[in-house]
Amino acid sequence: MAEYTFRRASIENDLEIKFIAEIDNTIPALFDSDFVVNEQMNQDRMKFLKACKEEDFFDVVLADNKNIVAFHVVKKVPHFDRFAGRIDTLWIAPDHRKKGLAAALKLRAEKWAQEQGLDHLHTWVHADNRKMISLNEKMGYRTVNYKMRKDKKDFLSDSSKKNDDQPNAQNLIQLVAYNPEWPNWFAQISKKLAACLDGLFVSIDHIGSTSIPGLASKDRIDVQITVQKIDEKFKEKLDKALTSDGFKESRWEQDHRPPGDESPQENWKKLYLSGIHPELSFRANIHVRVRGMKNQIYPILFRDYLRAHPDSALAYQRVKEELVRFHANDSIAYTELKDPACDLIMVNAHKWAKQTDWKT
Ligand SMILES: CC(C)(COP(=O)(O)OP(=O)(O)OC[C@H]1O[C@@H](n2cnc3c(N)ncnc32)[C@H](O)[C@@H]1OP(=O)(O)O)[C@@H](O)C(=O)NCCC(=O)NCCS
Repeated sequence: MAEYTFRRASIENDLEIKFIAEIDNTIPALFDSDFVVNEQMNQDRMKFLKACKEEDFFDVVLADNKNIVAFHVVKKVPHFDRFAGRIDTLWIAPDHRKKGLAAALKLRAEKWAQEQGLDHLHTWVHADNRKMISLNEKMGYRTVNYKMRKDKKDFLSDSSKKNDDQPNAQNLIQLVAYNPEWPNWFAQISKKLAACLDGLFVSIDHIGSTSIPGLASKDRIDVQITVQKIDEKFKEKLDKALTSDGFKESRWEQDHRPPGDESPQENWKKLYLSGIHPELSFRANIHVRVRGMKNQIYPILFRDYLRAHPDSALAYQRVKEELVRFHANDSIAYTELKDPACDLIMVNAHKWAKQTDWKT
């Protein structure tokens, strides 16, 4: 169990602020798959963070006095004839969540707000960010405004009519029956990727439910690109190749870690992008992972095990159907509940891999 230290961020330390700015900019993408970060946005965010004044709140948490595993920024802003605290960001590293760090940071900010004599603290939370909404509610925050948004694609149109029967239909998670075309779709996207990533990858594999014959799935192709190593330099090369062929830029993500796993964090790191290639008509989720890392082996073993065990595949399908029945409009609940179900399947998959001398 890590020991946590709280301190004020070092605004003078460019490396520290860059680290925070880059992570901070990935948060909107958790809830908006079209949100893409570029270098300019990272630099702007750095400037914004470095502009924090002495009177603002900007704390970080270190694990074992080494790495930053959480940050919280609240700026003092005018509110009519008084001042309020505007919460600009709060983030906890995935491996350090559910340990009370967010709650502790919020309490420290409250103490600061009291010392500053602020009228109130306020924050914006994405409507799908159930964890943050629930934590805020537990800590006594209440909803006072609704932020309502109309995207540019809908300007000058009355889009209320088309959704009359199915509110938020676009955002609902939907499963479709197995489509025998999916392997062909994978072949098409993998060909495009192989052509633009010439020399940058080890293999390209079809993963996820669309790679398991007979299984219902979300209608999108999951692709795993296996590479030798990933770092910022590699990301630059990858993004250059991808964007030149009409793909989007990738972003850093941390995969779900099965309970009890204590392997180094590197094992669960990936680059990720989701989108529709301009010459293709279906959406693909692309996961770039390092050869031999646990997150690279996981989806391939998962796939091969379910291909060899149709009874388990059917049970997995049932889990997904029930998740959609109860949580079709809550992608976070869907994923948070699906992941441990996959981990359960993986317990047997690992035994099977040993018995059959399975290799990736
Ligand atoms: C939202 C976020 C900040 C919450 O961080 P966290 O570390 O999980 O928060 P906490 O541990 O303080 O509290 C979260 C939950 O863990 C529970 N918890 C706290 N201490 C715990 C412990 N020791 N053991 C088990 N559970 C614990 C809390 O009761 C709370 O329960 P709930 O999920 O039922 O509401 C984190 O998920 C995150 O960084 N998300 C991505 C960034 C983001 O969305 N930021 C907000 C933008 S507005």
